[in-house]
Amino acid sequence: MKPTTLTRFLIEQQREPNSACPAELRLLIETVARACKVIAQAISKGALGDVLGSLGSENVQGEVQKKLDVIANDLLVDANEWGGHLAAMASEEMETIHRIPGRYPKGEYLLLYDPIDGSSNIDVDLSVGTIFSVFKAPEGASGREVTEADFLQKGSEQVAAGYAIYGPQTMLVLTIGTGVYEFTLDREVGAWRMTDGPLRIASGNPEVAINMARRSQWSPGIARYIDERVGCVDGPLAGQYNMRWTGSMVADVHRILKRGGVFLYPSDHTKPGKARLRLLYEANPMAMLIEQAGGAATDGRERILDVEAIGLHQRVGVVLGDPEEVAKVRELSLAMD
Ligand code: AHG
Ligand code: MN
Ligand code: MN
Ligand code: MN
Repeated sequence: MKPTTLTRFLIEQQREPNSACPAELRLLIETVARACKVIAQAISKGALGDVLGSLGSENVQGEVQKKLDVIANDLLVDANEWGGHLAAMASEEMETIHRIPGRYPKGEYLLLYDPIDGSSNIDVDLSVGTIFSVFKAPEGASGREVTEADFLQKGSEQVAAGYAIYGPQTMLVLTIGTGVYEFTLDREVGAWRMTDGPLRIASGNPEVAINMARRSQWSPGIARYIDERVGCVDGPLAGQYNMRWTGSMVADVHRILKRGGVFLYPSDHTKPGKARLRLLYEANPMAMLIEQAGGAATDGRERILDVEAIGLHQRVGVVLGDPEEVAKVRELSLAMD
């Protein structure tokens, strides 16, 4: 028998007593998953589909937009705005929130996403992904216009999070707070089929992911943690570790979910408040997935899911993966920074 489909998994979750998956959330996740299939199709055409390269525009993050950043963003908007399950959405590629147009019914959920994560990898045919996060709109939001402030909830309030990864296989990795499940796209029939889960992060895999070129921005605690493992400090860990950095958070997090290790994109120690990754579109959803798989996710010290959101495009340092390693980073940070 072929593995369970995403549709069947979600319907069975909906039937559970005190289900974490009401029908509206199920439809929302199915809609996002469907849009990810279309994005996968567009990506796979590459130069033949005229989807590679950059546009002349910059997004609100100050990044040059790739064609696929905009294509994927628009596909997600088009797929989600008419279905009646969303109150509004927000994306890395849109300056402010996207309200549901008056001609469509409004639902009770808020969707946030990074339409293409790792977009610098698109033109060189390396893995990229789509990351998404779902909150409930605050009580009373249905009777008024949704605002940016409605999105500024702590990550611990997320009701679902996941990503699609467009790699050698196209996969969807999802949590609704009941563990983390992996689905592989069966292209022959267009279905997502469960191929792993519930995922548990392996402990003790000596593998670390960090962009070494940012070393001058690291705090002393981060520098010590890395130097002891892959740097020039003699000690019991020297020579034990392997290094991996893909430039796509989705690909690095997927590897960690599958075989352990730790990922770090620390905030810039030389410029207070400066960091690379976005709290709402990247750090929060990945932190929910990692915690649901038994891992830990912090900004170096505090739990990501407890970070107070103060702006839609807020950035945050990220250290996630094997909980013992994340704890060691925290100890060093507390002792040295
Ligand atoms: P995005 O493509 O959505 O802007 O995100 C890229 C992020 C993340 O995927 C990755 O871990 C990191 O930026 C790579 O940053 P560097 O270029 O500094 O390595
Ligand atoms: Mn970007
Ligand atoms: Mn990203
Ligand atoms: Mn992006």
